[in-house]
Amino acid sequence: MCGIVGIVSDEVKTADIIDSLKKLEYRGYDSSGIAFVRGGKIEVYKSVGKIEVLKNSIKDLLEKKIEVGIAHTRWATHGQPNDVNAHPHTDCTGKIAVVHNGIIENFRELRSMLEALGHKFKSDTDTEVIAHLIEEEYSGDLFDAVMKAIRKLDGAYAIGVIHSNHPDIIIAARKGSPLVIGLRDDMSILASDVTPIIRYTKDVIFLEDGDVAFLKKGRVEVYRANGEKIDRKVQHIDWDELAAEKGGYDHFMMKEIMEEPMVISSAITGRVKAGKVDIPEVREIDFSKIRRINLVACGTSYHAALFFKYFVEFHTDLDVLVEVSSEFRYRKPHVDKDTLTIAISQSGETADTLESIRLAKRLGSSIITITNVVGSTITRESDVSIMMNSGPEIGVAATKTYVAQLTVLLLLGLEIIQQRGFWAGRHEKIFDTLLRLPEVFSSILDFSDKIKEIAKEFKGYDHFMYIGRGYGYPTALEGALKLKEISYIHAEGYPAGELKHGPIALLDENFPVFAIVPQDSLYQKMRSNVMECKARNAKIIALTTSENSDISSIADIILEVPRVPEELYPLVMSPIIQLFAYHVAVLKGHDPDKPRNLAKSVTVE
Ligand code: AGP
Repeated sequence: MCGIVGIVSDEVKTADIIDSLKKLEYRGYDSSGIAFVRGGKIEVYKSVGKIEVLKNSIKDLLEKKIEVGIAHTRWATHGQPNDVNAHPHTDCTGKIAVVHNGIIENFRELRSMLEALGHKFKSDTDTEVIAHLIEEEYSGDLFDAVMKAIRKLDGAYAIGVIHSNHPDIIIAARKGSPLVIGLRDDMSILASDVTPIIRYTKDVIFLEDGDVAFLKKGRVEVYRANGEKIDRKVQHIDWDELAAEKGGYDHFMMKEIMEEPMVISSAITGRVKAGKVDIPEVREIDFSKIRRINLVACGTSYHAALFFKYFVEFHTDLDVLVEVSSEFRYRKPHVDKDTLTIAISQSGETADTLESIRLAKRLGSSIITITNVVGSTITRESDVSIMMNSGPEIGVAATKTYVAQLTVLLLLGLEIIQQRGFWAGRHEKIFDTLLRLPEVFSSILDFSDKIKEIAKEFKGYDHFMYIGRGYGYPTALEGALKLKEISYIHAEGYPAGELKHGPIALLDENFPVFAIVPQDSLYQKMRSNVMECKARNAKIIALTTSENSDISSIADIILEVPRVPEELYPLVMSPIIQLFAYHVAVLKGHDPDKPRNLAKSVTVE
């Protein structure tokens, strides 16, 4: 996923744009570049590698005032990561510069057409066709040229365009990739998300698919493809810059784990009334009319969805199906108007999940989305969006957003239980405990140093087996994903009952087991599985409940959480599995915020 920044202002310096671009590093990238108008000319600088490389290449220009500038972090989709393929891309005249996030699906046809007209291409990217298309359409009005050019584009794009003849404007357009505009009297700032904007302003406009925006100093006009001018709502983002900085921790990931007590409170706020669940966003939905629920999600969000399946199926008469989005979208799912589809996506931009809800919608399903990003694409394609309200999650590994998803899903599940007439004392206890969880989490987070000591003992292993049953199964999957994606240790998450069907052949003294084994309704079954692993000489870390002396006699290492209703163990155990993965990764010398090969949001297939 690429990152875009653009600023138009009398006071902007080259360094301001570069510093804003750095706020987007978390999205993952392989090269970066900047273009600006100075002295009536477009200057373009770009380089493969980190933004620091680019910054060093233009250190004499950093304090120079520029009239308008755009910058970009590239996560390659077409063309190798190198200086030439880095954005911005220019047209033949060098008067137009473009930055782009997305994929132009018909770029080959467009390139052939443009080359036949005499255009000379420099890069292997799809993006460059946009610069030449605008050049072809330009006859003095940049906005008009961009409007005409984008009509020829198939696929997804968020673009920023500048022209040396127009040193006081940026033209922006979006279709399928996010774009946000920050508003201030003396400047307008364009970005892929709010993180680079909040240092300048907290008043923003989220562009919608098909919008074309005209940014001038302190003024923004938004138009639809048909030329109609529209008033996009200005939203106030209450994140200050610190919320997007590390807050004193070594890594965003640790900061975000430590935010989890507050995240639970934020996810609950405004969704409890007179001692009952009351989610305003779903007040109009009659859950008693629904025959089936389908959930679609990827990665960590899929593990949260799996928890919801266990929870709602166990406590109601509803069928709940869960599928990873990349499979759901190519199946022939049985979805109709009586099916509720719930999409879970913290970024709200995951391509496979977006396509899955589009499929479900075409089949007649209503769509509820649970997401963390105000104004994200998924919110505009869903009937209802329940915001996770977690604040920006910068670390690539999902941590606090997983906690927020589980919290929202517990509330939504309780709402459904309430509406479908299954509410009982047990649900009261779950609800009451959930409301108390922020302080329970604070006590669990105090274990971080103890977990770091344990991580020292296990950081040298090449393999790990995470096992769980029932509500412990999603926890096992999530624990394995966290470990593998930031420490690069091979970690498998498995239903404990499946071990004897093959995976137990893997176990020996070099293959430790992380067992999710709370004293819940499946404890005895889990205990037997732990014994099986022990018998193969595997070292055992048991994540269990306090004062469980029984398992202490079997496991090598005990990690514990307070006893709660078993539906809450996935939530209560999440900081432990996250902290373990975090400390192992850091002890192995990795940067947990920017794991190799991964991006924060997978906006391409
Ligand atoms: C989880 O740590 C990963 N970052 C990844 O699996 C992520 O959960 C997945 O890509 C889904 O992202 P989304 O919630 O933004 O859709």
